[in-house]
Amino acid sequence: MKRETRDELIRQAIEIRKRAYAPYSKFLVGAAVRTTSGKTFLGCNVENASYGLAVCAERSAVFAAITAGEKQFECMAIATSGGEMPCGACRQVLSEFNPDLPIFIVDADHPDRIIEGNLWDLLPGAFSLADGGKGKKKEAKAPGTKSKGKNDADD
Ligand code: THU
Repeated sequence: MKRETRDELIRQAIEIRKRAYAPYSKFLVGAAVRTTSGKTFLGCNVENASYGLAVCAERSAVFAAITAGEKQFECMAIATSGGEMPCGACRQVLSEFNPDLPIFIVDADHPDRIIEGNLWDLLPGAFSLADGGKGKKKEAKAPGTKSKGKNDADD
């Protein structure tokens, strides 16, 4: 991906963050997801007096894309104060469409502070029904388990 494309996606995530409706947490989040067709969809978090109804920026962006008929995601930029990582629920939702999605995390207060990551590193072994639950597992292991070499005894 071109540098300008990445930078523009990050800029859009920072910009849309200003539209966040977060009077309860005061934690504003902006997300911009780019599709392989070159379109960008934006999202911000939307809270509610009934706290549990809050919707994250990342899912908001994904749902906007799906609503527009787009589901081939190329990458996502997420902007927060401090450059925080996406929550587990959003990781799972993103994984549905691209388990290897490249993600750019930006600190909206210091836009030059960018972490480039990949969804698989944030959610290895994501739940999936693909291939009867046997597909897309790559090298993921359950936490706390060791990979068994061919000479290791069963225990
Ligand atoms: N939030 C997001 O928008 N994305 C995340 O990945 C984590 C949290 C929002 C939800 C809520 O409005 C606020 O941040 C504080 O949790």
